[in-house]
Amino acid sequence: MILAGGFGTRLRPLSCTRPKTLFPIVNKPLLQWIFERLSKNNIQEAILAVNGLTAFHIKNQRIPKRGLRIKYSIDPPKTPLGTGGPIKNAEKLIGHSEPFLVLNGDIFAELSYTEILEAHKKSEALATIALCEVEDPTRFGVAELGTNCRVKNFIEKPAKGTAPTNLINAGIYVLSPEIFSYIPKGKHVSMEREIFPKLVKEGKLYGHVFQGLWMDIGKPEEYMQANKILLNTLAKTPKTKNRSKFTLKNPIAIDKGVKIEANSVIGPYAILGKNVAIGKNVQIKNSVILPDAKIGADSSINGALIGEGAIIGKKVRINKGCIIGDQAKIRDNISLANGTTVCPAKEVSENILKSKIIC
Ligand code: GDD
Ligand code: MG
Repeated sequence: MILAGGFGTRLRPLSCTRPKTLFPIVNKPLLQWIFERLSKNNIQEAILAVNGLTAFHIKNQRIPKRGLRIKYSIDPPKTPLGTGGPIKNAEKLIGHSEPFLVLNGDIFAELSYTEILEAHKKSEALATIALCEVEDPTRFGVAELGTNCRVKNFIEKPAKGTAPTNLINAGIYVLSPEIFSYIPKGKHVSMEREIFPKLVKEGKLYGHVFQGLWMDIGKPEEYMQANKILLNTLAKTPKTKNRSKFTLKNPIAIDKGVKIEANSVIGPYAILGKNVAIGKNVQIKNSVILPDAKIGADSSINGALIGEGAIIGKKVRINKGCIIGDQAKIRDNISLANGTTVCPAKEVSENILKSKIIC
């Protein structure tokens, strides 16, 4: 089961127009990365726990299914079920025959699902959670392990300075079907705050520590960083059909249909989505440009996130930490202060001197 019904408030305004699980990482929706990993681990079916709107967006994306059977389990309208409620809601779809995997849909993790499933089956666990080490655990669920990987303490989002360890809940679990009897039906239930502490008391929660790459894309900086890290591991010199003289500096990723005009310098760390159009003498680095955006001549973009279909005029300056919403428009000659956010479809026609949200 993939949990993907949250609202992604920390990724606004880009999450106003797409669910977190569809944010592209190096031009591929996060959910597609997840499907690919599931398929590699011989998983045959994925149930997406979502709200109606998210289901609509996901179906529209036509993500290659990689041999997976995809089913939807929709939260009731107006009642988000949290992280536990959707599991109970899908009880019939999941069935009681064997342990199953639950994934937070906003996580990129290089973890072997096969390995965690096996670890779960070998132990006495009712739930096994994947754990990884991070520098600052306060934004996450923190676990303390006892003997044989049994979790002896689990605290969701501990206050600063109080986390017992740096081992966090990676947002990947294996649950045995008995879990259904722990979750009340039709209610908002937090797995992390209500169910895991109960399992800890009963000695039924286990941890599975793993070392691979793990990234949460919940905040804009994290989303940008995730793109950067994957670019480092993936980047190859892209082929473009355009014959004009522009410069590409690796690592970069360029999707289909991108046009780049003369004298532009793209990269390092630039990701251009499908059909992005770049004018003459443009500079783009450390940035993610979503599909169909247009960047006018002589503009420079550094450290920014540009939304789908956004139109950036000529001689525009967009720097560190700026987020431009989908379909927004920045007029010619405009400079945006670092950290400026522009809401979807908004138009900016004057310089922004101090970081703010334009809505
Ligand atoms: N269907 C459905 N309905 N899904 C939901 C709902 C809901 O009402 N609320 C949240 N989700 C989904 C989110 O889309 C996300 O994929 C997952 O459940 C976790 O919710 P978040 O809101 O992203 O939680 P978090 O990031 O603050 O914390 C969780 O993830 C951390 C790892 O990134 C917790 O599980 C932490 O313990 C964990 O460390
Ligand atoms: Mg999250």
